Amino acid sequence: MNLDNIQRTAQEQFARQSHRYGKGHILENVDDVRAASEKMHLLARATVLDVATGGGHTGFFFAGLGHEVTLADIAQPMLDRAVQAATERGLKVETRQHSAERFPYLDSFFDLVTCRVAAHHFSSPPDFIRETARVLKPGGWFLLIDGSVDDDQPEAEEWLHQVEKLRDPSHNRFLTPRTWTRLCEASGLQVREATLTPFKQPDLNWYFETAATSPENRKMVLDLVTNAPAGARQLFRLNEEDGKIVWWWPRLTLIAREANPV
Ligand SMILES: C[S@@+](CC[C@H](N)C(=O)[O-])C[C@H]1O[C@@H](n2cnc3c(N)ncnc32)[C@H](O)[C@@H]1O
Repeated sequence: MNLDNIQRTAQEQFARQSHRYGKGHILENVDDVRAASEKMHLLARATVLDVATGGGHTGFFFAGLGHEVTLADIAQPMLDRAVQAATERGLKVETRQHSAERFPYLDSFFDLVTCRVAAHHFSSPPDFIRETARVLKPGGWFLLIDGSVDDDQPEAEEWLHQVEKLRDPSHNRFLTPRTWTRLCEASGLQVREATLTPFKQPDLNWYFETAATSPENRKMVLDLVTNAPAGARQLFRLNEEDGKIVWWWPRLTLIAREANPV
């Protein structure tokens, strides 16, 4: 794979931290995926590509429904652990190592492409969406779930960007619902729904550990939390509970569909 700096940073970061994304990670709870899946109409045995699969939780959900699932990620150790977790659950999945910006599949191959809590690491969201549209069959579905901030909250978005960049160097940028919608439409994906739902992030320290944040960066994040602008404090419901710093991230669920042939 020919990787740019953003992709290489993500690959190194997640290869190093792959042990943190399996059992016990908060992404193991796939209620958000289940809720979205009820709004899509899939065949009984659909072909599914889960891009940037991490611990595999999203792909496992669809494999558990009997679909043919390919888990893809830029970091091979993530895929190795996901295969192990799938075997433990008695699930059959394929794996492919590749970036989200370039897929090694034929056109019109998948019924569903999913990508959950990963796209903010991508170096080129436009390339990712173009590739997604390319590999989807006519009438195929796209499910994107990721952190996002509403279009009319630029100050809060900038604050969160600074926090995330310091906490996890492989963070690139959260995109707003309108930006994702425009990217989808530019590639012929018709957006059915783009909804922001607040998700509780229960402990800033756990997040530091998950990303192996350096001590200097932890200090800078804590300073940003202390001095958060009122708008960000309110939007993210920044608070302290039992000595833990908690906040709520808006999480975008975007469901789109590849146009049917005319
Ligand atoms: C938080 S994890 C994903 C969580 C997972 N989708 C789930 O539902 O549990 C983020 C993943 O994105 C992958 N990643 C980051 N940048 C990538 C890129 N440009 N292409 C492919 N995978 C990427 C990382 O290797 C990591 O495994």
